[in-house]
Amino acid sequence: MGLAVSASRTEMVEVALPQDANPLGNVLGGRVMHLVDMAGAITAIRHSRRAVVTASVDHMDFRNPIRVGELIILKASVNRVFHTSMEVGVKVFSENPLTGERKHTTSAYSTFVALDETHQPTPAPPLICETAEDRRRYREALVRRKVRLGHRYKSE
Ligand SMILES: CC(C)(COP(=O)(O)OP(=O)(O)OC[C@H]1O[C@@H](n2cnc3c(N)ncnc32)[C@H](O)[C@@H]1OP(=O)(O)O)[C@@H](O)C(=O)NCCC(=O)NCCS
Repeated sequence: MGLAVSASRTEMVEVALPQDANPLGNVLGGRVMHLVDMAGAITAIRHSRRAVVTASVDHMDFRNPIRVGELIILKASVNRVFHTSMEVGVKVFSENPLTGERKHTTSAYSTFVALDETHQPTPAPPLICETAEDRRRYREALVRRKVRLGHRYKSE
């Protein structure tokens, strides 16, 4: 049985703390990457109700810095289920908690693989798209998959 995109959609909010930042007070890219991985994994687990591993992360650009004291908002949803793998899109914003001003920091596409009890890849439930936006992301995910698998690590 399929599951709607909205059933696993996840929003995470963190406060940017000094230990997350460089000496200029800007949050480190690695911290944002960690949060993207967490938000994506939670979303994939909620969709599949399985343990998951990160198989790949597409490239990430950091468009705007996040300052210490700002909120880090992560919005994640499953874009497409292939067989055992799921592409999850994560959009990251900074928010000034005093003014509410939001800036788009980065977007990332990660692929998670659902695992069974023996830690082998196992099918994830089909995805049900509910909105035009869901359907656009679903279509575009197939194009990204082809590129990503073309770059896939080949064992010796
Ligand atoms: C990801 C992993 C489970 C794939 O295992 P595998 O033996 O290559 O399995 P398969 O070839 O059967 O692929 C399983 C699925 O993963 C997908 N996949 C494998 N490598 C991928 C990659 N680099 N990017 C995107 N998807 C990938 C396959 O397309 C397949 O998806 P599908 O069933 O939807 O078509 C395995 O490589 C692994 O465990 N990697 C380590 C994961 C990890 O520890 N991540 C944390 C970072 S340290």
